[in-house]
Amino acid sequence: MEQQVQQVRTEGASADTRSQPNWDIIFPLFDPLSNLLAARLKKRFKHLRKWAKRMKLSCYRLYEKDIPEFPCTIDWYDGEVVVWLYRRKKDENQAQQKAYDDLVISEIQLGLAINEDQISVKRRYRQSDDEGKRQQYQKFDQSDACKIVEENGLNFKVNLRDFLDTGLFLDHRNARSWIRERSSGLKVLNLFAYTGSFSVYATAGGARSVTSVDLSKTYSQWTEENLNLNHFDSICDQRVISADVIAWLKHAHLEKDHYDLVVCDPPTFSNSKKMKEASFVVDRDHPWLLADIAKILKPEGRCFFSTNSRQFKLDEQKLSTAFDNIEEVSQLSVPEDFRNKRIHQSWWLHKK
Ligand SMILES: C[S@@+](CC[C@H](N)C(=O)[O-])C[C@H]1O[C@@H](n2cnc3c(N)ncnc32)[C@H](O)[C@@H]1O
Repeated sequence: MEQQVQQVRTEGASADTRSQPNWDIIFPLFDPLSNLLAARLKKRFKHLRKWAKRMKLSCYRLYEKDIPEFPCTIDWYDGEVVVWLYRRKKDENQAQQKAYDDLVISEIQLGLAINEDQISVKRRYRQSDDEGKRQQYQKFDQSDACKIVEENGLNFKVNLRDFLDTGLFLDHRNARSWIRERSSGLKVLNLFAYTGSFSVYATAGGARSVTSVDLSKTYSQWTEENLNLNHFDSICDQRVISADVIAWLKHAHLEKDHYDLVVCDPPTFSNSKKMKEASFVVDRDHPWLLADIAKILKPEGRCFFSTNSRQFKLDEQKLSTAFDNIEEVSQLSVPEDFRNKRIHQSWWLHKK
């Protein structure tokens, strides 16, 4: 192999000395890794495509750091791909990182037989200081390139380019199904609702009413669009509220506004100027957040709580006064197309 590489290097050099590529950057990547990612993607796609068709899914995870030399994740969104690129090695310079990123993109094209314009690239590493300062929920681009995807027979609007996230967190697919199965006839509350995917599922499950609360007006509007897409806007009593959950919960308690089922999937960290509190940190603040939720749960009501915080530890001791039964369901809630079984942790909390 080393001999072959040497030979191509020499040929490359003698063929055209004016536009000589930087082989030192490219060769360690192109050989012997060439086509490794493409072959893996081709195989995974062939395998998952049948499963997805059966499940009525047009979006799912195709690849998740399966090959150590390619530490990226790749999601399929009905003919398009979102790739999350991470730093391959800590000591790589910008040119090496770029060569690696370009290689991943060309391997995706080869493996899935798609064009570059069908690939949305997200970088999980800081390219400039400006980028580091951007907030997770801010708009990145103005392409307005939205499309509709299907999940378990329901429709969702996604935007693969303009935000860091797409509008649908694929790792919560199983949890969304649970909410559909458990919502019949209930008054459901979706906190930190984002684009309202849990609300769509609750409505599909026959909820009596669904209230969705999120700080962002953009996402609240997106929730309404997702409800409309499924013709759910007037199927039951729908309320979409743009507000700070922390303040809203106190208001709901005073108003004696009680719920049977609450979904709470907060951000790991939030410090919007629209919030009364200086910041929200899920690791630190979940005991009082969940205690406030318990106050607006009806007797025998339950809360589905989930977090993507990596080092999160649920404070069961503090929560035992507010909840009767706490059941961890993390192992079941991560879908089968995800390799990282710790992408989120989740619990059912049952009211006393
Ligand atoms: C992790 S996402 C929630 C994902 C959502 N549960 C889902 O699965 O689709 C976090 C959401 O919380 C919202 N958010 C952040 N801080 C908030 C606050 N204090 N009150 C209400 N919403 C907030 C953000 O706008 C964002 O939509």
